[in-house]
Amino acid sequence: MEFKSVFIAVFIGTALIVAAFLINGQRPGVDLAHPTASLIRATGKCAECHRQETAAVVHQYETSVHANRGVTCLDCHQPSDGQVSMDHRGFTIALALTAKNCAQCHTTEYDQFQRSRHGAAAWAAVAGAEDFTEDQIEFAERFHPGAIRRPANALAQLEGDGVLTLGCTACHEIGKPNLDGSIGSCTQCHSRHSASIALAREPQTCGQCHMGPDHSQLEIYTESKHGVLFNAQRASMNMAADPKTLSVSDMPVPTCSTCHMSGLDGLKVTHDTTERLSYWLFASTSDKRPTYEQGQAAMKEVCLKCHASTQIDTFYREAEEVVVATNAKVEAVSEIMASLRDEGLISPEPFDEPIDFIEFDYWHYYGRTAKHGAFMGGADFVQWHGNYELLAKRIELEELAEALRREHAND
Ligand code: HEC
Ligand code: HEC
Ligand code: HEC
Ligand code: HEC
Ligand code: HEC
Ligand code: HEC
Ligand code: HEC
Ligand code: HEC
Repeated sequence: MEFKSVFIAVFIGTALIVAAFLINGQRPGVDLAHPTASLIRATGKCAECHRQETAAVVHQYETSVHANRGVTCLDCHQPSDGQVSMDHRGFTIALALTAKNCAQCHTTEYDQFQRSRHGAAAWAAVAGAEDFTEDQIEFAERFHPGAIRRPANALAQLEGDGVLTLGCTACHEIGKPNLDGSIGSCTQCHSRHSASIALAREPQTCGQCHMGPDHSQLEIYTESKHGVLFNAQRASMNMAADPKTLSVSDMPVPTCSTCHMSGLDGLKVTHDTTERLSYWLFASTSDKRPTYEQGQAAMKEVCLKCHASTQIDTFYREAEEVVVATNAKVEAVSEIMASLRDEGLISPEPFDEPIDFIEFDYWHYYGRTAKHGAFMGGADFVQWHGNYELLAKRIELEELAEALRREHAND
């Protein structure tokens, strides 16, 4: 054999080996760690293109617990029962993914989520019962009587479909029924490709929806001692601690998830955010929930991981006094409005006169804010955004009622 052909053979051989290394280096970590045929077929093939097409997706996936545990692109993206599929570059993938794709591996979380108000109740709050099957309604009504079997929200209807999609729906679709028979979406808190626990524990994650004048939980938290300490000390916290062993040394200061969901120091993690509540604070008049005793005991158990019981009992007693006082103020205003309607001075329709908006803001902004502030450590919200407004708006409303009566007497 001539030297030239040996040289070419060696050159091509070396080039092939180098190329193989280069291509291998481009494959996601999961392939390298578990080089099974099916994984390479799924994740590797998807990543080959998607590293060009949507690099962020592949990058986020690679840093996730899912990649680390060998969950492939196709494990999530293949169609589940009842999902519309589409052909995609030699694969069959689902046209849209829902909570059902996650539920195939995370049934416990899905079942708890379904029992919470983040499930069907959240969607019914905007769209009523219409989009649900009878089975779905029956199931959710067992946990939240009256919360699903109700008409579509009057304000939503008045504002019209166009704005709803990016308004009410964007927050309330956390419990929207999907075409495949499942309900809701897990990625509102988890994001699609990072599956990060640390992200879910961020106050800002809940604050995507829990903010603004009608449910100022993020703002209240931020100004509470808890929020201030969290922001000051977060760098030293282990935000990604395993939920099964999360301790107060990982997170010595609570975020939203600590109080409402986490399994701190041996408590059980829950995706049912209703479990630890004792009042319907969002309601115009806040009654005790049927699960008052269990709800309050469960939340206090969390507080007691970091506080003494006398402190917490006092805190709850004072907060409950704010609920009682706010209920009385809201009821007084409802009575004024009811008598104006009885006297025929205003229409029975909602949201067709300026005074309707004062009545709505009264409990929906100021009343709620005062109650939420009391339970989550927001003095400014109990006082200036809450009770000050409750006083001022009541005077304004009484004046309007008097003016209406005077006008009517002159008719
Ligand atoms: C041969 C290249 C190629 C392969 C292989 C490939 N994709 Fe894609 N994929 C694309 C391109 C190109 C797009 C369109 C990107 C755009 O619209 O900007 C796309 C879009 C998508 C979309 C969005 C579809 C939509 O219409 O909303 C998903 C989801 C997706 N790919 C998932 C996957 C998964 C999962 C795999 C592996 C099972 C995969 N892809 C394999 C090239 C590929
Ligand atoms: C843990 C489940 C999961 C895994 C694993 C996963 N995806 Fe996704 N992916 C989702 C979800 C959920 C969506 C949102 C789909 C929807 O809204 O219908 C999505 C959306 C996408 C989109 C559309 C993004 C956009 O914003 O337009 C692409 C492309 C995609 N995935 C590619 C991939 C690729 C490539 C892999 C593997 C490297 C992968 N996914 C792994 C759950 C997953
Ligand atoms: C094919 C099975 C499978 C699917 C589908 C799947 N996961 Fe997972 N998921 C896992 C496994 C395995 C783990 C690691 C479990 C463990 O460590 O206990 C995990 C862990 C997680 C974690 C915890 C991450 C951490 O930091 O500890 C979250 C959050 C999560 N998944 C959310 C989702 C969401 C949201 C979806 C749907 C978009 C989904 N998963 C789809 C199998 C799956
Ligand atoms: C995508 C929007 C969205 C995100 C993100 C979100 N929530 Fe919610 N949450 C809602 C909606 C909407 C409701 C009201 C449901 C109803 O009562 O109709 C709600 C209700 C609640 C309730 C009251 C439940 C009850 O029984 O009255 C709690 C507590 C709660 N969320 C906690 C959280 C926590 C903690 C997080 C973050 C880990 C979070 N939420 C993230 C939209 C969201
Ligand atoms: C920024 C996110 C967001 C938007 C936009 C939003 N909501 Fe909500 N909504 C929430 C959250 C969070 C709660 C839970 C409040 C609580 O429990 O304190 C809630 C509670 C409610 C409730 C009381 C709970 C129940 O089940 O009865 C109703 C009703 C409601 N929203 C209807 C609507 C309507 C109608 C619209 C649009 C006109 C809308 N929301 C827009 C986040 C939002
Ligand atoms: C309201 C926000 C929210 C929603 C919606 C949500 N999660 Fe979570 N999830 C969390 C938080 C917060 C944690 C971490 C709890 C903790 O601190 O230990 C978590 C933890 C997890 C874990 C790890 C649990 C463990 O014990 O290791 C899995 C798996 C998971 N979620 C899956 C899901 C699935 C599946 C869905 C949809 C059915 C879902 N999540 C919906 C907020 C959410
Ligand atoms: C220190 C613990 C703690 C923290 C931190 C905390 N909460 Fe709360 N939250 C409570 C308590 C206590 C209540 C009132 C419970 C009851 O009804 O007995 C409450 C009530 C609520 C409600 C009202 C439910 C209703 O009936 O209307 C929502 C929604 C909520 N919290 C969301 C959040 C969000 C979002 C965050 C973070 C921005 C947060 N919480 C931070 C303890 C906490
Ligand atoms: C993970 C630990 C942790 C949990 C859980 C927790 N807290 Fe705290 N809390 C703290 C820390 C730390 C401080 C600041 C204490 C200090 O100033 O030394 C604090 C401060 C407070 C303060 C302010 C005290 C003051 O005088 O400034 C109140 C009130 C409070 N917590 C109530 C609660 C209630 C009510 C719960 C349960 C719903 C709760 N906390 C749950 C850690 C926690």
